[in-house]
Amino acid sequence: MSRGNNGNYLVIALSSGKLFKPSIRLWERIGIDLKGGKEIGRKLTFFDQREQIKFIITRPKDNPTYVECGAADIGIVGEDVLLEEKKDVYRLLDLKFGKCKMVVAALEEGEQEKYYRNNGHRLRVATKYPRIAGAYFKEKGIYVELIKLYGSVELAPQVDLADLIVDIVSTGRTLQENKLKIIDEIVPLSAQLIVNRISYKTKHKRITNLLQEIKKFISLESDKIAEW
Ligand code: PRP
Repeated sequence: MSRGNNGNYLVIALSSGKLFKPSIRLWERIGIDLKGGKEIGRKLTFFDQREQIKFIITRPKDNPTYVECGAADIGIVGEDVLLEEKKDVYRLLDLKFGKCKMVVAALEEGEQEKYYRNNGHRLRVATKYPRIAGAYFKEKGIYVELIKLYGSVELAPQVDLADLIVDIVSTGRTLQENKLKIIDEIVPLSAQLIVNRISYKTKHKRITNLLQEIKKFISLESDKIAEW
C-alpha cells in the first residue's frame, strides 16, 4: 500500500520517547537541517525545505504502521516494536543506537525462578509484548497466562498481579529499583531504519543516498553511537 500524497517530499517517521533525541542527532550528523525538530512543542510535523524532507513524530508502536501504509517512506523504530507489531516493512539498517534487551525477570526474593525452571506451575506473565513473550514461552514449552499491560510492568510482580515480567531493559535501573532480577535474556535490541516497500522502489535514489550517508557515519562513529 502507498498513499503518495506527499509530493516530492521524502517523509521520515521518528519515534517519540527514548529514540527521539538520538534519531534527531543522527539526521543532524549527516547534514539534515533539523531546526524545526528542536522547537517542536506539541507539533507533530516539521520540514527541511532545502532537502524536501518532511518529518513526522509518531508513538513508537505506531511507527511501522505509518511506514507500512506509505504515510511515511522511512521510519526509525525500536526492534522491540518491529518484533511485536509484525508489520510489512523492509528493514534497511541496524542503526546501532538505542541498545537494550528483552528479558524475563522476577522478584529477587521470590521462588518464581524455581517454578520457571521446573515448569511446574502455570505462571502469570505481565508484559507490554504479548507476541514476543508468547512465542518465547511456547518455544520453551512453558504454559503461561499472559497479562497485557501498557507500561510500568515492573509493578506487576510487586502487587502479585504476575509471577514474571517480559520487558525491555536498558540501564537496568528500573529492575534494580523495583527489586527484580533477570532470569533469562530473550533478544538484544536496537534502533532500526525501516522503509515502505513501494517507496523503496519509487524513491530509490533518494533513499539509497541517505542510506549511504548513514552507513558511512555509523562505520566512522560506531563506538560513540552505541552510547547514544
Ligand atoms: C521502558 C521499559 C522499562 C524501562 C527500562 O519503559 O519498559 O520499564 O524502560 O529502562 P531502564 O533499564 O533504563 O530502567 P518506559 O520508560 O518506556 O516506560 P513504560 O514502562 O511506561 O512503557
